[in-house]
Parts: sequence; structure tokens; C-alpha cells
Amino acid sequence: MKAAVIYKSKSGYTKNYAQWISETLGAELLQGTEVKIENLNEYNTLIFGGGLYASGINGIKAIKKSINRYPTKNIIVFVTGASPGREEEIDSVFKRNFTEQEQGAIKFFYYRGGFDYSKCSAIDKVLMKMLEVILKNKKELSPDERGMLNAYKTPMDFTKKENTNELIDYVMSL
Ligand SMILES: Cc1cc2nc3c(=O)[nH]c(=O)nc-3n(C[C@H](O)[C@H](O)[C@H](O)COP(=O)(O)O)c2cc1C
Repeated sequence: MKAAVIYKSKSGYTKNYAQWISETLGAELLQGTEVKIENLNEYNTLIFGGGLYASGINGIKAIKKSINRYPTKNIIVFVTGASPGREEEIDSVFKRNFTEQEQGAIKFFYYRGGFDYSKCSAIDKVLMKMLEVILKNKKELSPDERGMLNAYKTPMDFTKKENTNELIDYVMSL
């Protein structure tokens, strides 16, 4: 098996997972911004990682392009988000980002990443400030929303190597 882990990471959470996966599998680690999909022919397993931004997956274009171009390769996608990743949320992200045909062509995983306001780009800071205002104006907050609000002051990092175990087992079984 020759595998590559191709990731896009704005603040480092997806990068943590990508590094753990590539180390454990002995797979090549490639930064999404530097990868041309046409040049991935030598691998039979492609593992894509990207953060969730307003429920969209960072790097989704390259993933879709690969599904089209390489129908016989194993394609695995993992996404990281700040939310705990309840089953219905994960399902909705999966269905929102991929057509039925694409869903059948990939194996999908969700990992909890984190949130660090200081590492956000200028545009993301504006978006996240808007969310902060919305949350602060809410009368009642869910525990997740309260956690999110606290994270503006104290960054949160939920990345854990063992979260990748299922993906590792899956790839090893191919
Ligand atoms: C503008 C913005 C939008 C976000 N939207 C979501 C979201 O819809 N769902 C979620 O779970 N996390 C969301 N997050 C949190 C990121 O997905 C989380 O920090 C992720 O682990 C980032 O990975 P990266 O640093 O590798 O890019 C958002 C963060 C920012 C800055």
C-alpha cells in the first residue's frame, strides 16, 4: 500500500491529525496548497484532511477532483471541527458536502479539533466576532455554545492521537 496524507490546516488542528496518521502509516505527508491532484497517481490510498468552516470542508475542491479522477483508488476523508461531533451533525456535514455518488466513493471520519481565535485570519476573526455577538445575546446557551464562548478567551485543543485509531485500522485492512 502506498498512501499519502494531504491536508489543509488554518490553525494547526488538522495538521496534528495528519501528522499522526502519516507517521503511524508511514504515509507521505503533503500540504494541500502544494499538491497538484494530477500528480497523485503513484499512490493507491489518498487520505484527505481539512477543517470545517461554516460547515464546509477546507480543501473540498481537491477531494472532489480526486474522487472523479481516481475512481479505483481508496479515498479517505477526515474533517476537524470545534464541535463535539454528534452523530447527526457529522451526518449532516457529510451529506452537505458530498453528493450521494461521492458519499459512496469515500470513507469519512470526523475528529474534534479545537478553536484558537488568535490564530484566525482577519476574515475569520470578523466572522467569529459576529458569532460571539450572537452567542452573547442569546438568553440561554447550550453547554456547547457556552464552551465555544469560553474558547474566545482560552483556546481549546481536543486533538488526540487515539482518535485516529479507527482510520488507521481501516486503512490497514485495505
Ligand atoms: C470562521 C470559522 C468557521 C468555523 N465553522 C465551524 C463549523 O461550522 N463547525 C465546526 O465544528 N467548527 C467550525 N470552526 C472551527 C474549526 O473547524 C476548527 O477550529 C478546526 O479544527 C480548524 O482546523 P484547522 O486549524 O486545521 O484549519 C470554525 C472556525 C472558524 C474560524
